[in-house]
Amino acid sequence: MFKKLSLVTLLAGSLAVATSAVYAKNFKIAVGDAAGSAQHAMGVKFVEELQANSDHTAELFVNGQLGSEQDTINDAAIGVLDMSLVAINNITPFSPTVGVFTLPYVILSLEDAEMLTQGDVGKELTENTIRDAGVRIIGWTYTGFRVLTNSKKPVSTVADLQGLVIRVPKNEIMIDTYKAWGIDPTPMAWSETLTGLQQKVVDGQDNPYLTVHSMKFYEVQDYITNIRYIFSIEPLVISESIFQDLSEEDQAVILAAGNAATLHSAQHLRDSEAAIKEDLIAKGMEIQDPADGEAEFIKLATEAVWPKYYESIGGVDKLNAVLEALGRDPVQ
Ligand code: MLT
Repeated sequence: MFKKLSLVTLLAGSLAVATSAVYAKNFKIAVGDAAGSAQHAMGVKFVEELQANSDHTAELFVNGQLGSEQDTINDAAIGVLDMSLVAINNITPFSPTVGVFTLPYVILSLEDAEMLTQGDVGKELTENTIRDAGVRIIGWTYTGFRVLTNSKKPVSTVADLQGLVIRVPKNEIMIDTYKAWGIDPTPMAWSETLTGLQQKVVDGQDNPYLTVHSMKFYEVQDYITNIRYIFSIEPLVISESIFQDLSEEDQAVILAAGNAATLHSAQHLRDSEAAIKEDLIAKGMEIQDPADGEAEFIKLATEAVWPKYYESIGGVDKLNAVLEALGRDPVQ
């Protein structure tokens, strides 16, 4: 009897081990940016939390090793990639309503970004992204304002910008913003941007200090202009089909890990941005603020670009809901 029981217990034990081995996944996470970036810091925290609270493991593949950011959204949508960390502007082409976060001069601070992403607006956009793009946003990276860099000359006015060849993501809102500033930018995948700058196919680009630093753009770019037209938000997304195949318990662990990584990301930005700016200066970059408190950039961009995208973001009411949440006046 004792022996029989032992055998049963042993078999049950092996079954449990086998079951957890079958279900313990090793998630592959694509990361567009380099090690040391804001995306990477967020991803590292997510992996730590996931591994501390489940049998699952996860691995980060930095520097676009798994493809361009937009390609990884496609791959996650069809379930051949588990997760990806991408700039929001690289999700907008698949889920236009998230464009409200890419409209120039809507998000004016880290606090704005936190309030929107962690509140009702973020929840609605998460639902829309599942519906439109087949991926679920499970966390948010906060990377800071996208500043303009270039290798040719100091820029502080819209007039200074003329003649520069500027790379932008393949994102219509950003393309139209530069057009409103009088130049025809060059749409280019993120994974090709460093080479484009090195080979001087383009003179400049825009991305936050943290990204400029982690990508070592200071080796090929000399000037920074502190335009603050987009606050860079970079979601961590999971393939919705893969998410739906997980148990409820695992889904909860993943969402909790995403939340912890989101909070960590905001703190990471607060703790590191000033020192990174100083280091960019130490590495030889010259930084200027736009003239007139950026008034000309703001006027041209908001007047031309906002109305053009009301329809794709779901109507002017969607923009007004965001502005209202931020305590700002609605547009008429
Ligand atoms: C882009 O410029 O395409 C993105 O902001 C790159 C990134 O993910 O940092």
